[in-house]
Amino acid sequence: MKYLVTGGAGFIGSHVCDALVARGDSVVVLDNLSTGVSHNLDSLVGNSAFDFISGSILDASLVDSLVASVDSVLHFAAAVGVFTIVDKPLESLITNLRGTENVLESASKHGKPVLIASSSEIYGSAGSDGLALNEESDRIVGSPLKSRWSYSEAKAIDESMAIFYHLEKGLPVRLVRFFNTVGPRQVGHYGMVVPRFVEAALAGTPLAVYGTGKQSRCFCHISDAVAAVLALVDSPAAVGQVFNVGNDFEITIGELAKKVVSQLGSTSSIEMIPYEDAYAPGFEDMQRRVPDISKIKTVIGWAPKHGLDSIISDIARFSNSQH
Ligand SMILES: NC(=O)c1ccc[n+]([C@@H]2O[C@H](COP(=O)([O-])OP(=O)(O)OC[C@H]3O[C@@H](n4cnc5c(N)ncnc54)[C@H](O)[C@@H]3O)[C@@H](O)[C@H]2O)c1
Repeated sequence: MKYLVTGGAGFIGSHVCDALVARGDSVVVLDNLSTGVSHNLDSLVGNSAFDFISGSILDASLVDSLVASVDSVLHFAAAVGVFTIVDKPLESLITNLRGTENVLESASKHGKPVLIASSSEIYGSAGSDGLALNEESDRIVGSPLKSRWSYSEAKAIDESMAIFYHLEKGLPVRLVRFFNTVGPRQVGHYGMVVPRFVEAALAGTPLAVYGTGKQSRCFCHISDAVAAVLALVDSPAAVGQVFNVGNDFEITIGELAKKVVSQLGSTSSIEMIPYEDAYAPGFEDMQRRVPDISKIKTVIGWAPKHGLDSIISDIARFSNSQH
C-alpha cells in the first residue's frame, strides 16, 4: 500500500512512517516543517519506499494531487502544542480546520480511505471528576473567544466533518483521539510536559510544574500509539468509527516531576509556577483526563504495553543522543 502521511515529519507521523516502511508499505510525506523536523525521517531518506514533499495542507491543489497518487491517507498535520495555539490562534485555527477540510475533500473526490488524528482535547474539561472518558462522552469547553479552546473546537469540527463525509458520501474514515502520547522525537518547547521535564532533569535545571501540580494526566508510549494506528488502518471494523488511543494509568504532574528526577538520578529542583506566568492570564487547565479504552480493546484487541518507566528512559536516551 502507498500512504500519504500529512505531518509525517512530526513526532507521531514520523514513527508511523517508520513502521509502515518497515512492514513493506511505501509513504509520501507532506509536511511544512513548522513543528516537525526533517531529521525525524533520516532513517527513511534514500529508501525507494519513501518520498518527502515540502508543502502545506493549506495548498489544496498540492493536497489533491498527492491524495490522487496514493492508496490511503493518514492525516497527522496540525498546529499543535499549547504554546503554538495560544501564540498564533488564527493561523492555528485555519490550519486545523481548512487543512483537514482539504484532505477530506480530496479523499472523497478520489475515493481514498483516510485516518484523521483527533485529540483528547476535544473533551475539554470533561472528565475532571476522574471518570474515564469514552467515545460518547459529552464535551465541556470554554468560551470560543479564548484561544486556549480553539484547538479543541477545531479538532471537534474535524471529527464532525469526517463523520459526515462518511455518512453522506460513503468516505471510509477512521478517527483516532490520541490522549497524551509521548516518546522519543517529541520536543519540550511547545509545552509537552514529559520531554520538558526529562530535558530539565538531564540538564540539572529546575523542573517547572505549572499550577498546583495536583492535576493528573495519563501518558501513552509512542510505540503503543503506532501499533494502534496500524491496526486501525488495517481493520474494516474501524471504518466510520472514533477510537480513544491512550494509556489509562494516571499520575499527577507533581508526582511525575518527582519520578523523572528520581528515575534519572537528577540533581534538579522542582519549582511551582502559577498558570498565569506559564501561559496567559485566565488560562484554564483540566484537572484530570483518563481515557476509557474499552472500545478499541473490543474492536481490534489493542491495549498499551509500555509504562511510565520505559517512557521516561526512552525519552532520556533519545535526548542524550541529541547532544
Ligand atoms: N502528541 C500527542 O500527544 C497528541 C495528542 C492528541 C492529538 N495529537 C494529534 O496528532 C497529530 C500529530 O501530532 P504530533 O504530536 O506528532 O505533533 P507534531 O507537531 O510533531 O506533528 C505535526 C506535524 O504537522 C506539520 N504541520 C503543521 N502544519 C502544517 C501544514 N500547514 N502543512 C503541512 N504540515 C504541517 C508539522 O510540521 C509537524 O511535522 C496532530 O494532528 C495532533 O493534533 C497528538
